[in-house]
Amino acid sequence: MNNILSPLMPTQVKIVEVGPRDGLQNEAKLISASDKISLIEKLVSAGVSYVESGSFVSPKWVPQMATSTEIFKTLNRKNNVTYAALTPNIRGFENAMAVNVNEVAIFGAASESFSQKNINCSIEESLERFIPIMDAAKQANVKVRGYVSCVLGCPYEGDIAAEDVAKVAKKLYEMGCYEISLGDTIGVGTPGKVTQMIQAVSAHVPINKLAVHFHDTYGQALTNIYAALQMGIKVVDSAIAGLGGCPYAKGASGNVATEDVVYMLNGLGIETGIDFTKLLKAGWYISEKLDKAPISKVSNAYLANRNT
Ligand code: HMG
Ligand code: MG
Repeated sequence: MNNILSPLMPTQVKIVEVGPRDGLQNEAKLISASDKISLIEKLVSAGVSYVESGSFVSPKWVPQMATSTEIFKTLNRKNNVTYAALTPNIRGFENAMAVNVNEVAIFGAASESFSQKNINCSIEESLERFIPIMDAAKQANVKVRGYVSCVLGCPYEGDIAAEDVAKVAKKLYEMGCYEISLGDTIGVGTPGKVTQMIQAVSAHVPINKLAVHFHDTYGQALTNIYAALQMGIKVVDSAIAGLGGCPYAKGASGNVATEDVVYMLNGLGIETGIDFTKLLKAGWYISEKLDKAPISKVSNAYLANRNT
């Protein structure tokens, strides 16, 4: 079946669950560390093998992430699961190491204005800030993932050239990031642009070192993921219940919902190792904590059936 769709379509996809970080970071209602831990444990028991579980950033900038130290201290971890966190600077990295974070991510942008708003420095300065993190991570034998934001548009600058995305992705890869996640931070992309952007990036970074990270503001995320899969992308970031947004990207809605992605992948016969029913329950759990319905059509359809 896969060959009919595209010879490059993977038979297995790794889901990078970003709900506890990217999902919750934009929620005004503060969720307790113990509820976040329950969410992470539910996701893991559903078969998710990579959970971005926190972020070692300034609590003044992102108050919801202030619980990250407590989360990593208290989490009951499973051996075959990666519990990761964002680290914007060496201080964040050191704080992450103090609580044995398994893997970290540095985050840059393809847009100058977004870089300034998000991490208070230029793209060039951000790359300089990342060097000590990369050195320390190498010493500590910790893997580093790299994010590029605004790969299909910027809330302040509009269109972003694919070449600008490729330039930053190449730098992060050359610095030693083992994988580069391409973020459509404000969810404006469409499949043709996704294909063009991935083509430009993959001229510098091998396709098997790329991941995609779509927000669903304009309802294009699943289609965009499908376009990326057809190019051989095998790693997809998503957030349970479609939570999220970015505090520095006004109007950006949540990440594509993990439930929607897994439903699509199941339909395509692509393995994720995730138990769909348990995944749905994890989404309902956090949605209840946030006092809102899941932002996932699939999840709401199952919820409606459950309640009838
Ligand atoms: P800064 O103001 O340039 O740095 O912030 P600073 O060194 O001058 O420090 C300012 C304050 O932050 C000081 O505190 C520091 O102590 C503190 P004050 O003296 O005012 O009380 N500070 C820290 N506190 C805790 N942990 C740290 C840390 N570093 C400094 N590591 C900084 C620079 C990056 C820290 C700041 O801009 C920040 O925290 N930004 C938050 C960025 C963020 O988390 N954005 C959301 C995540 S990115 C995203 O969502 C996109 C993504 O999902 C992909 C996509 O969708 O495209 C990844
Ligand atoms: Mg994001």
